[in-house]
Amino acid sequence: MTPATSLFTPVEADLQILADNLKQLVGNRHPILYAAAEHLFGAGGKRIRPAIVLLVSRATMLDEDITARHRRLAEITEMIHTASLVHDDVVDESNVRRGVPTVHSLFGNRIAVLAGDFLFAQSSWYLANLNNLDVVKLLSEVIMDLAAGEIQQGLNRFDASLSTETYLQKSYYKTASLIANSSKAAGLISETSLETAEHLHSYGRHLGLAFQIVDDILDFTSSTDTLGKPAGSDLKSGNLTAPALYALEEKPYLEALIEREFAQSGDLEQALALIHDSQGIQRARELAAHHAKLATEHISILEPSESRQALMNLTDYVLSRLY
Ligand code: IPE
Ligand code: IPE
Ligand code: MG
Ligand code: MG
Repeated sequence: MTPATSLFTPVEADLQILADNLKQLVGNRHPILYAAAEHLFGAGGKRIRPAIVLLVSRATMLDEDITARHRRLAEITEMIHTASLVHDDVVDESNVRRGVPTVHSLFGNRIAVLAGDFLFAQSSWYLANLNNLDVVKLLSEVIMDLAAGEIQQGLNRFDASLSTETYLQKSYYKTASLIANSSKAAGLISETSLETAEHLHSYGRHLGLAFQIVDDILDFTSSTDTLGKPAGSDLKSGNLTAPALYALEEKPYLEALIEREFAQSGDLEQALALIHDSQGIQRARELAAHHAKLATEHISILEPSESRQALMNLTDYVLSRLY
């Protein structure tokens, strides 16, 4: 069960098939890789990305059933996402994901890096086998973007002069690119017009940005138990997200605390207090709402259907999510 379950009603049966297939696709090349993948796919996750791919597929195939290629695209999308999380958790040194210990905390960094590589490689293989060059181009760009986003984030740690534009660009690379390009790819498989495909890309881009901004807010406002992953870790590791960037405009002392990387005792607590005392979280919510609204506008160009409605409702869910 995921929090978004009722939103996913039009593709509930599809998501069940996807869950069964994902485990099979990872195959049995090596017991450790299999264990790592099994571990992650078993722990579930919200499955938002494949649900979007399936909903876009259905919303663009109103007179026919979706094809095996649409389904495979949804599976590839979740595989790429999961691979990125395995690597992200190594980079962030996070010990919990989806409420269970991370791959690197169970098997060590070496295995986690290799398991992530394996998942990326395998998703590329399934991607190539879709035999659709445009779709291959879209999704291979995502894999480049994910790496670019992680690198950019790593280089910008504790840089209090980071602009909101740079933060949004990094968020596009790390999060929105996958949702945008997989939505567009689903449209291409349905043979929509190029104009429609571009709207699908924009829908995914704005929804993805809203999703990441909310994730960044939750890191300040929620708990590890609720999230199933460590809360309060972004600021501590120097990853400056929307709430902190907005707070910096109001609280000059925050800059000093960040620049000295919270070296003195009580620095981190003080920085958190300054952020909570500012308009940062509220302004970040408004930024997320702005992107959610743009996403709704782009998806409204599709013909009305149950699946289109679910894609619209998803923009509200993203803003209201608790984990
Ligand atoms: C986590 O994504 C990474 C972010 C973009 C914030 P999700 O929150 O969708 O993770 P799962 O798949 O549900 O675990
Ligand atoms: C998004 O960034 C993760 C990826 C797209 C790899 P985060 O670093 O915020 O993700 P969480 O918070 O660890 O899930
Ligand atoms: Mg992370
Ligand atoms: Mg996060």
